[in-house]
Amino acid sequence: MFKLFLFFGVLFVNICNANEVLNIKIKSIDLSDLKYVSELCTQLGFPAKEASLKRRIELIKKYPTQIVLVAKTEKGNVVGWIHAYEAPSLLSDATVEIGGLVVDQKMRRHGVGKSLMNAVEQWAHARGFKEILLATRTDRLDAQAFYKAIGYVFVHTTHFLSKDLEKSVK
Ligand SMILES: CC(C)(COP(=O)(O)OP(=O)(O)OC[C@H]1O[C@@H](n2cnc3c(N)ncnc32)[C@H](O)[C@@H]1OP(=O)(O)O)[C@@H](O)C(=O)NCCC(=O)NCCS
Repeated sequence: MFKLFLFFGVLFVNICNANEVLNIKIKSIDLSDLKYVSELCTQLGFPAKEASLKRRIELIKKYPTQIVLVAKTEKGNVVGWIHAYEAPSLLSDATVEIGGLVVDQKMRRHGVGKSLMNAVEQWAHARGFKEILLATRTDRLDAQAFYKAIGYVFVHTTHFLSKDLEKSVK
């Protein structure tokens, strides 16, 4: 169970579990969050050195059409992050897409993931977007159950391909 409060662009979330109420703040990422974000990237299956993450965050912050939000406890621990961006397209009206989402495994099933998605949905809605798109791997069954529970519907399965330009472009 959780409650959301919006205050000067920062969302305050009260997360209640059996024994306690946790005050979680959802706010834009900054470089002081790097250590936690790096650990959460590992939990997501994308380990990254802090130096690489720093470069990526600095790059993303140059684009006003992208956001990275973190969920922070009162002690300053980051317990989840989400990345979302505007995606203009020739095939459809522009949508907002989710680039990544992870909640600390010790803090799952307390509403943090839903709160992060809710914050992105509010951001997208305020910018005039009518739809959010996201992709999740076919073996991430927990994530699929989560997205379904918060109102996302399955569209189709697709293959994701890549090409290593270091090797192929001379
Ligand atoms: C998917 C993930 C972000 C969900 O975050 P979370 O904070 O645990 O989710 P919430 O507590 O907000 O869940 C909201 C609702 O979604 C559903 N849900 C969440 N996790 C679920 C699971 N593992 N199985 C079934 N339903 C689930 C429930 O209905 C839940 O409400 P409830 O706990 O009151 O029953 C988190 O499990 C995670 O980080 N997973 C690993 C990384 C990942 O898969 N990321 C997504 C990549 S696309």
